[in-house]
Amino acid sequence: MTQIGTDVHVAAEFLEAGNVVGIPTETVYGLAGNALNPDAVLTIFRVKNRPAFDPLIVHTDSLQKVRQFVADIPEPAHQLAQAFWPGPLTLLLPKRDLIPDLVTSGLPTVAVRIPRHPLTLKLLHLLNFPLAAPSANPFGYISPTTAQHVADQLGDQVPYVLDGGPASVGLESTIIGFEEGQATVFRLGGMAIEQIEAVIGPVSVRTHSTSNPKAPGMLSSHYAPRKPLILLQPGESPTPNNRAGALVFREPFGGIREDHQRVLSPTGDLNEAAKNLFAHLRTLDSLPVDVIYAEPLPNQGLGWAMNDRLRRASVQ
Ligand code: TXA
Ligand code: MG
Repeated sequence: MTQIGTDVHVAAEFLEAGNVVGIPTETVYGLAGNALNPDAVLTIFRVKNRPAFDPLIVHTDSLQKVRQFVADIPEPAHQLAQAFWPGPLTLLLPKRDLIPDLVTSGLPTVAVRIPRHPLTLKLLHLLNFPLAAPSANPFGYISPTTAQHVADQLGDQVPYVLDGGPASVGLESTIIGFEEGQATVFRLGGMAIEQIEAVIGPVSVRTHSTSNPKAPGMLSSHYAPRKPLILLQPGESPTPNNRAGALVFREPFGGIREDHQRVLSPTGDLNEAAKNLFAHLRTLDSLPVDVIYAEPLPNQGLGWAMNDRLRRASVQ
């Protein structure tokens, strides 16, 4: 059985011994292991039931440490790191040999992020290695935003979950790569495009299949609940149904039982909505409903990333 606690020293001991540990970040909880230890990395893939072609993000706590395992930081990447780290942004950078090929699924780039969570920053400070950490959910399911979500789904395989409270952003990090100095967004996420463009100018967005260029189209269905999810069109209402649930932005729909509905933000705040998105989807998944309707969010700020997640979670 897993233990849920707030002791970074206990977490550090498990990690130093090559075990995997659940860690809080501002985006979602991660399933962390020593990124420099191939056995620990293999354990991550096994526990998550994740295909080996899907590379992991490496987490650390300073730009100085990042330089130890990347060969180069292009200028726009450096500007973004200065502006947004620690934060919900992952940069794809050319890797050094120190990072095992297993972590990057053989790709020449490594995904790097400095997360913005005080407990995890403290943990990373204690360790003399970076942490590889995918979201701590079984592959394909909704990402966890509390320690309990991690324990519920992976508890029997993870000895310790570091509890840092509910994730403050609630969406996985935005992933950006650089080709010949040009920035490309590979995954929409917790850092809004508008904020990124304010620092480095216009970026292109290439998220149609997956952030893994080696597996085009394979992961377009992802982040999904077990119940079928139907993403409505803007302005569309679901047909009345006693056995339906609904995820709505500001207010419940008529025709669906109110106790089968979850409101993302009564005041229409997209950041609050993002924070609630995955927890509400989990709750809806556990209710006695046969189908979940989801209302699309406005396409601005974190609304883009939420609509992306809802599209991937939906039956297509
Ligand atoms: O917010 C987050 O990013 C969370 C927290 C725990 O940090 N982590 C997370 O990891 O969402 P994961 O493994 O669920 O998603 C990582 C994504 C995958 O889609 C993977 O394909 C992509 O990052 N990725 C990792 N390395 C890559 C690389 N070298 N090139 C392209 N995509 C990469
Ligand atoms: Mg994930």
